[in-house]
Amino acid sequence: MAVRDAASLLVGLLILCHTWGAWANIEVNMEDRVEVFRGDTAQIACMFKSSEGIGAMIIQWFYVTWLGEKQRLYYQDSTTKIPERGTPFTDRISVNDTGASGEVVLTINNVQLADELEFICLVKSLSEAPGEGRTKLKVFETPELPTIQGVQTGISVNDDGLSPIASCLVTNGFPKPNITWYRNHTPLRNIDDEVKVNPSSTSESTGLYTVSSQLNMKVVKANKDDQFYCEVTYFVPGGIRMTETNRINITVLYPSTEVSIWVDSPKGKIKEGDVVELHCQGNGNSPTEIMTISHNQTGQIWDGKMLELHNVTRLHNGQYQCGIVELDTMEEIRGVTSVFVNCPPKIMEQEHKDLEESVGNAVDLSCNVRGFPAPSVTWTTSDGKVIETATKEETEDGVHSVVSIEVTSDITAFCNATNEYGTDAVTFAIKATINTTTPANTTTTTTTTTSTTTPMPSSTVKAKTAIPPKKIKQGEGRGVIIAVVIICILLLAILGSTLYFLYKKGKICGRSGKQDLTKEKSSKDNIVVEMKSDNTEEAVLLEVNGEKRPPSDQ
Ligand SMILES: *[C@@H]1O[C@H](CO)[C@@H](O)[C@H](O)[C@H]1NC(C)=O
Ligand SMILES: *[C@@H]1O[C@H](CO)[C@@H](O)[C@H](O)[C@H]1NC(C)=O
Ligand SMILES: *[C@@H]1O[C@H](CO)[C@@H](O)[C@H](O)[C@H]1NC(C)=O
Ligand SMILES: *[C@@H]1O[C@H](CO)[C@@H](O)[C@H](O)[C@H]1NC(C)=O
Ligand SMILES: *[C@@H]1O[C@H](CO)[C@@H](O)[C@H](O)[C@H]1NC(C)=O
Ligand SMILES: *[C@@H]1O[C@H](CO)[C@@H](O)[C@H](O)[C@H]1NC(C)=O
Ligand SMILES: *[C@@H]1O[C@H](CO)[C@@H](O)[C@H](O)[C@H]1NC(C)=O
Ligand SMILES: *[C@@H]1O[C@H](CO)[C@@H](O)[C@H](O)[C@H]1NC(C)=O
Repeated sequence: MAVRDAASLLVGLLILCHTWGAWANIEVNMEDRVEVFRGDTAQIACMFKSSEGIGAMIIQWFYVTWLGEKQRLYYQDSTTKIPERGTPFTDRISVNDTGASGEVVLTINNVQLADELEFICLVKSLSEAPGEGRTKLKVFETPELPTIQGVQTGISVNDDGLSPIASCLVTNGFPKPNITWYRNHTPLRNIDDEVKVNPSSTSESTGLYTVSSQLNMKVVKANKDDQFYCEVTYFVPGGIRMTETNRINITVLYPSTEVSIWVDSPKGKIKEGDVVELHCQGNGNSPTEIMTISHNQTGQIWDGKMLELHNVTRLHNGQYQCGIVELDTMEEIRGVTSVFVNCPPKIMEQEHKDLEESVGNAVDLSCNVRGFPAPSVTWTTSDGKVIETATKEETEDGVHSVVSIEVTSDITAFCNATNEYGTDAVTFAIKATINTTTPANTTTTTTTTTSTTTPMPSSTVKAKTAIPPKKIKQGEGRGVIIAVVIICILLLAILGSTLYFLYKKGKICGRSGKQDLTKEKSSKDNIVVEMKSDNTEEAVLLEVNGEKRPPSDQ
C-alpha cells in the first residue's frame, strides 16, 4: 500500500517535475508579431509563469541581428534595470515592470524601418530552467497616393506588337506596395501578345520603397472607350489597404472603314451662283490618312476634307468622290455624293427683238434659254394666243425654242420661259411692212420663205397698211412726171433746133434729105407724145395697184 502510494506519488512528482519541477522551464508567452507604423511606439509584451516572485527573476531583452546573432538590449534583476549601451535602441527603449502580474513590456519609441527585427525575452530564475519568447516587430509606412500617366500620343492599332499605354507610380511605402492594373473593372494580367505589365521597384535611401508599373497592350479600336487605372495595395498594422489612381482613357488611332461626303451648304437645293461646301469625313482618326475630293466630270482633284466651290454653274454638276488612303496599309476607301446645280431661266439676248418683215413673209423667232431643270417655253401673242412651237431642242445648259410666224400685221410676241426656280420673258415686236422692190424681186425672195400664200394675204392687208407707203410713192410719181416733162421739153427743144438746122441745111443741100428727116422727125414726135401720156397714166395707175413699172418695158 505504502509502496503503491509511494510509486504513485513518484509518478505524480515526475509529472510535476516535468512542468514545475526544478528543471522545468519558465513558461514565456509572447505574440508572434507586433505591427506598428514607422515613428510610432511599439510595445512588446513578455508574459511568464514562475513559481518564484519577480524579485528572483532575471529578465533580459535581445534582438536578432541581420547576421543572426543575439544582441542584448536590456538587463533587469531584483536590483538593477540597465538598458544596454551602444545599441540602436539604447535611447528609445524602456521596460515596464508590472512584475507581480508576470508581465514585462518592452516599449520602443519612434520605431524605425530598421527596427523590423526579432525580439527575444529571456527569463531566468534560480530554481527553474530559463524560458524565452520571441516576437517579430513589423514596421509599416503608408505610401503616398499613387499617380497614373497615360501616353500622350495617340496609339495606332496598326502598331506592331505591344504599345505602351500608361504607367503608375507609388512612392514611399513599406513594405513594398503592389500595383494592379485595371481596364474598366477588370484586373489585367499578362497575356502573350496582348497584355504585358512591367513592374519595377526601387528602395530609397530612407529604406522606403517606390514601385512603378508600366502597362503595354496590343491596342484595338474598342480600347478607345476603355478606362484604365491602377490599384495599389499595401499592408498596414493589422491589415491591407488599397487606393486607386484616377481613371484615364487613351487615344486610339484607327483607320477609317467608312467614308461619307456630303454637301454641307447650302442645305437645300443648289442654285447657280451659290457657294457650295462639300465635307468629307471618315469614321477613323488615323493621322496617316490622306483625304482627297475629286470631281468625276472634270477629273479635278483637291486635297483635304473640305471643298468650297464658288459661284457654281452647271459645269460643277456631277459626282464628287472622297477618297481616303491609309498610308500605313495603302488601303483606300471611297464615298460619293452628287452635286446638281439648278438655275432659273435666263433668255440670252443677242437676238433681235425688234424686227421688220414684209407682209406675207414668215419670220422665225427664236428663244435661247439657259436654265436647269430645262425650262418650259411658251410663245404667246399680245392677244393671248398661244403660238405653236416649231422646234424645241434641249441644249447643254437649257432649251432652244423656235417659232415661225406669218406676218400679216404688226405683231407682238412673248417668249416665256419657266422652271421651278423662276421665269424669264422677252418680247418680240414685228413691224409688218409693204415691200417696195420690183415684183420680180419680191416674188423670188418670198418664195424662199413661204411659197404658197404670198399673194393673197398681201391683198388682204393692203387696206390697213397701204396708206403710209402710198404717200411716199406719190412723191416719187410726181418726180417721175416732172422728169418726163423736162425730158419732153428737152426733146422738143432738140427737135426744134434740129428742124431749124435741117431747114437751113436743106436750102443748101436740096429736098431729098429734107424729106427723110421730116419723116423721122414726125415719127419721133408722135412717139414722144405717146410716151408722155403713157408714162403719167401708168405711173399713177401702178402706184394704186402697188405694182412695179417700168414704162420703158411697154
Ligand atoms: C509602461 O509605463 C509607462 C510609464 O510608466 C506607462 O505610460 C505605460 O502605460 C506602461 N505600459 C504598460 C504596458 O503597462
Ligand atoms: C477621355 O478623356 C477625355 C479627357 O479627360 C474626355 O473628354 C473624354 O470624354 C474621355 N473619353 C472617354 C471615351 O471616356
Ligand atoms: C504583393 O504581391 C505579392 C506577390 O503576389 C504578394 O505576396 C503580396 O502579398 C502582395 N502584397 C500586397 C500588399 O498585396
Ligand atoms: C460621273 O458620274 C456620273 C454619275 O455616276 C456618270 O453619269 C458620269 O458618266 C461620270 N462622268 C465621268 C466623266 O466619269
Ligand atoms: C459668277 O459667275 C458669273 C458667270 O460666270 C459671273 O458673271 C459672275 O461675275 C460671277 N460672280 C462671282 C461673284 O464670281
Ligand atoms: C409672258 O411674259 C409676259 C411679259 O412678262 C407676260 O406679260 C405674260 O403674261 C406672260 N405669259 C405667260 C403665258 O406667262
Ligand atoms: C423686201 O423683200 C426682200 C426680199 O424678201 C427683203 O430682203 C427686203 O428686206 C424687203 N424690204 C422691206 C422694206 O421689207
Ligand atoms: C432686185 O432689185 C434690185 C433693185 O431694186 C436689183 O438691184 C436687184 O438685182 C434685183 N434682184 C433680182 C434677183 O432681180
